[in-house]
Amino acid sequence: MLGTRGGWRALRRCFSSLPREQRVPAARLRVREALGAREAAGKVKVQGWVRSVRSQKEVLFLHVNDGSSLESLQVVADPSLECRDLTFGSAVEVQGKLVKSPHKMQDVELQAEAIHVVGPCDTLSFPFKIKERHPLEYVRQFPHLRCRSNALGALLRIRSEATAAIHSFFQDNGYVHIHTPIITSNDCEGAGELFQIGTSQEAKKSVEKNHFFNVPTFLTVSGQLHLEAMAGAFTRVFTFGPTFRAENSQSRRHLAEFYMVEAELSFTESLQDIMQVMEHLFKTATSTVFSKCPRDVELFHKYVAPAQKNKGRLEQMLKNKFVIISYNEAVEILKQASQTFTFKPEWGCDLQTEHEKYLVKHCGEVPVFVINYPYDLKPFYMRDNEDGPQHTVAAVDLLVPGIGELCGGSLREERLPFLESRLQRLGLTDAYQWYLDLRKFGSVPHGGFGMGFERYLQYILGVDNIKDVIPFPRFPHSCLL
Ligand code: 4AD
Ligand code: MG
Repeated sequence: MLGTRGGWRALRRCFSSLPREQRVPAARLRVREALGAREAAGKVKVQGWVRSVRSQKEVLFLHVNDGSSLESLQVVADPSLECRDLTFGSAVEVQGKLVKSPHKMQDVELQAEAIHVVGPCDTLSFPFKIKERHPLEYVRQFPHLRCRSNALGALLRIRSEATAAIHSFFQDNGYVHIHTPIITSNDCEGAGELFQIGTSQEAKKSVEKNHFFNVPTFLTVSGQLHLEAMAGAFTRVFTFGPTFRAENSQSRRHLAEFYMVEAELSFTESLQDIMQVMEHLFKTATSTVFSKCPRDVELFHKYVAPAQKNKGRLEQMLKNKFVIISYNEAVEILKQASQTFTFKPEWGCDLQTEHEKYLVKHCGEVPVFVINYPYDLKPFYMRDNEDGPQHTVAAVDLLVPGIGELCGGSLREERLPFLESRLQRLGLTDAYQWYLDLRKFGSVPHGGFGMGFERYLQYILGVDNIKDVIPFPRFPHSCLL
């Protein structure tokens, strides 16, 4: 708005009402910077959205927020500066003096000399009401507006810091960041949960032939196979991007579009190498987020998920080593449980959410690595443990309290004959010639993992529903905006 000619004209109108000596250009400050200024900083200009308006006989109080911090800046003004459009939700530009505040709540406040309403807000139809604490389920209905609520504002700042912390972790530890493709011709996980893509013309004609790319293409379910190619030249690589799964699940931990952090390491010696990176990544990123945005994190731990006593537990967890158990041990623990499960635990069956929850509880509500899963349960790329009748692969899942599976990884089958025979049995030899090539030309033991970024945020913040930790959630029967 301010970039437009009308916007500038309005601004000039507003400032021209000031006495000449006050028309010196004001420094533009973000609310966070203004709040951090311990002393009076002279003439400043703050832009943002009104979070509260309180008009008294002698004084007008405003709280202005610009997304730079959870706290809003208190503006104190002469009641003559009030106007009809100055309401909750309106966009404003306030010019004045930043002075030491006589109130205990804030070190500084802005003494307004001019208030310009840049964009009025129709408060009657605005779905959020002043001073009301709206439940997350309510604000979820308004994905285009919910970033203006305290909880989503805090979440989005945390998400941004967590993204940066994850990138820093990998860069600091010598990993090369790879942009793996979003459009792909393979199904990495082999689970058939793919969104197929085509042009709108192809959809109209519903033709099978003449694909845009000549072959059927899909939105990626994982960047792993492309990372593996890169791990043939770089010993440590990572990717962090959107992934897509056509899982028909309405659960509180599944999305159709989510972000995955994936790493691949060459010259591995055992699963231990992979677990070490998973644990180190988790602890480093979490400590960074807690120290970079303490107030935002506190909002979740105090008000959004206080019942889970999440914070104390997480701080303890950051100090301790994660537990490691084998799949065989996990099944024994489940078989001996006094609890009855909907899905009876049996060797060879996948661990269900109820099993994962029980295992985490059994181990003391701490993160648990479960390793060496049955061969038949896992995708073709996992390394064969060659271990007798209870045949397993070198797989690892990290289970965490309240969520279940947070990360999935494995050693990869780097031995050409093993991989060839597995792909042949699955009828995938032709499709994966390029993948077999990786085993022909300088193959090395390697492995990696993927961590669901939204599940990570859910866990560290105690958020019940995954739809509340991503700006625009996509799930079956819903794609708003
Ligand atoms: O266990 P997954 O399927 O592993 C892979 O895709 C491997 N190729 C990764 C690798 O080794 N590079 O997925 C990894 C993680 C899961 O542990 C879970 O946290 C998350 O991705 N995830 C989902 N998160 C939200 N919604 C979904 N539908 C998810 N599916 C998986
Ligand atoms: Mg998995």
